[in-house]
Amino acid sequence: MNIARPVNDALRRVPPWAIYIVAPVPAIWYFWLGLTGGLGAEPIKALEHALGLFALKLLVAVLAITPLRRFAGINLVRFRRAVGVVAFFYVALHLSAWLFLDIRDPARIWADILKRPYITVGMAGFVLLLPLALTSNDWSVRRMGPGWRRLHRLTYPAVLLGGVHYLMLVKGWQMAPLVYLAAILALLGLRWRWRRRRAMA
Ligand code: HEM
Repeated sequence: MNIARPVNDALRRVPPWAIYIVAPVPAIWYFWLGLTGGLGAEPIKALEHALGLFALKLLVAVLAITPLRRFAGINLVRFRRAVGVVAFFYVALHLSAWLFLDIRDPARIWADILKRPYITVGMAGFVLLLPLALTSNDWSVRRMGPGWRRLHRLTYPAVLLGGVHYLMLVKGWQMAPLVYLAAILALLGLRWRWRRRRAMA
């Protein structure tokens, strides 16, 4: 049985703005857990981690939308921009947790960004995502024309930097960051192959 058709029919009834309505729920839930002792002995670290991991999941989801349509026929393209904006929102919350709850000392911000390579890499990912978040609106799409698509290819290095940042910050070789990085590389590899095929056709 082809499950893509009923899934797509159901998805057509969901407006993309619904993503923005549900987007804050995990963040509110993490903050609530933090305030009520549900995040363990180091709630600030746990909050920082939960926000970073959720952001990475959403960024990987953005990359997976086109392959999902090509391989499984499930069309989530209408939701891609909203999921991207929400991913940025979670990266920004993750960065804010680090700035305002974790280090809190302005003198240490630059020192940490320059001294700790995993922070430098995470920051580079954030900086690449910034113009994407600012131009994720219909007005920018119209004004920028084909440049919009080119600019939004920054998503690829940004997600890769997010995956590398995760791998760099864990001690030793742990499974989870390796799996994320492998998934990111596989998804980027697919895009690269499709682009090459299109260029050769
Ligand atoms: C594309 C952007 C980013 C992504 C996808 C991302 C993702 C992640 C992930 C997945 C984790 C580990 C979560 C876990 O262990 O469960 C993490 C941890 C962390 N991230 Fe990020 N991050 C990003 C940007 C940043 C930025 C801009 C900063 C700060 C300048 C930052 C600072 C940190 C810190 C301090 C930790 C915890 C390290 C520790 O264990 O002490 N991240 N991040």
